[in-house]
Amino acid sequence: MTDQTLQTNSHATSRLAPDERSEPAIEFNEVRKHYGARIVVDGLSFDVRPGECFGLLGPNGAGKTTTLKMLLGITSPDSGAIRLVGEPVPARARFARERVGVVPQFDNLDPDFTVRENLIVFGRYFGLTGARMNALVPSLLEFARLESKADARVGELSGGMKRRLTLARALVNDPDVLVMDEPTTGLDPQARHLIWERLRSLLARGKTILLTTHFMEEAERLCDRLCVIEEGRKIAEGRPRDLIESVIGSDVIEIYGPDPKSLAAELAPFVERMEVSGETLFCYVDDPQPVHARVKGRADVRYLHRPANLEDVFLRLTGREMVD
Ligand SMILES: Nc1ncnc2c1ncn2[C@@H]1O[C@H](COP(=O)(O)OP(=O)(O)O)[C@@H](O)[C@H]1O
Ligand SMILES: [Mg+2]
Repeated sequence: MTDQTLQTNSHATSRLAPDERSEPAIEFNEVRKHYGARIVVDGLSFDVRPGECFGLLGPNGAGKTTTLKMLLGITSPDSGAIRLVGEPVPARARFARERVGVVPQFDNLDPDFTVRENLIVFGRYFGLTGARMNALVPSLLEFARLESKADARVGELSGGMKRRLTLARALVNDPDVLVMDEPTTGLDPQARHLIWERLRSLLARGKTILLTTHFMEEAERLCDRLCVIEEGRKIAEGRPRDLIESVIGSDVIEIYGPDPKSLAAELAPFVERMEVSGETLFCYVDDPQPVHARVKGRADVRYLHRPANLEDVFLRLTGREMVD
C-alpha cells in the first residue's frame, strides 16, 4: 500500500460501478448453522460483487455475526458452500484472510498499547516488518484522523476514535475486502458521519465492503445492495431504492393523534396501506393529497409527510414490535 492509495481526500468519493462480470468477492450458497437445538443460519445464499457495498440487516439475534464468523473461517457451517476472494472457506480461510480486513462487532484493541503500537503489532500478524509499518503508520493515522493521538493509549480514546482505529487497523494489509460487524453501533451522529465518509472513500478506491448494521439510514446511504435476514433466513434482497419502491411505495404520512383507530377508518379509502402503532397512524400512499386535505388544520392531530425509507421496509418485513 502506498501513501497515495490512502489519500484522505474527502471528495474522492466518485465510484466505478461494482464489477458485475468477474467472480464474486464473497459467495454464500445454502449455508446452514445451528447452535444446540437452534438453527441460527438457515439456508442463506447471497453474493457480493467486487467493488460493491453489501449490507446484512436484521434484528438482534438474526444471525448476522454468525454469518460473518463463518465467512472468516472462525466458525464452521453445518452445510453449504462459502467462498471468500475465490477461496473455499473454511478450508482455505487462512489464505483468503490475507486479502481481507475485519472490523469486529466489539473493538478488541489492546488497551495497554498506544494507537501507533496497536497498528504496528497488528501489522506483525501479516508479516509486515517494523520499517514497513513505520512507513505505513502515518497514512493509516491520517486516514483514521488520529494523527494527534498517535501516542495516546487506547483507554484515552472516545468511542468514535476507537472505531476509526479499528478501521485503520483493518487496512494494514491493504485488503481487497472489508468485513464490518456494526461499524457504527454506539457512536454519536458526528462520529457516525465521519465513519460513513471514510467508508465511502474506501469504496471510491475500489474496496469491497460487507457490513452489518441496525441503522437503516446507514444502509440506505452506503449499500449498493442489501439483504434483510430474520431468524437466519433471507426475507428480502435488493437495492435500497428498489426495496423501498416495491415494499412500501413513494410516500408516508405519519399522523399523531388521540384516536388513531377512528382516523384510520376515516382515511382508509385514500390510502394504499395503513398501520397503527401506539398513538401513530402510518399511511402509505402514492398520492398524498387526499390525506393531506383531511388532516390539515385539525387541532387534534399533528402529522409528518415524508418520502418512504428503508426503515419502513425493515419494519414492515420484521414487524414494528421490539425484539430482544
Ligand atoms: N457461540 C454461540 N453459542 C450458542 N448460541 C450462539 C452462539 N453465537 C450466537 N448464538 C445465538 O445465535 C443467534 C444469532 O446470533 P448472532 O449471529 O450473534 O446474531 P446477530 O449478530 O444478528 O445479533 C442468537 O440467538 C445467539 O444467541
Ligand atoms: Mg451481531
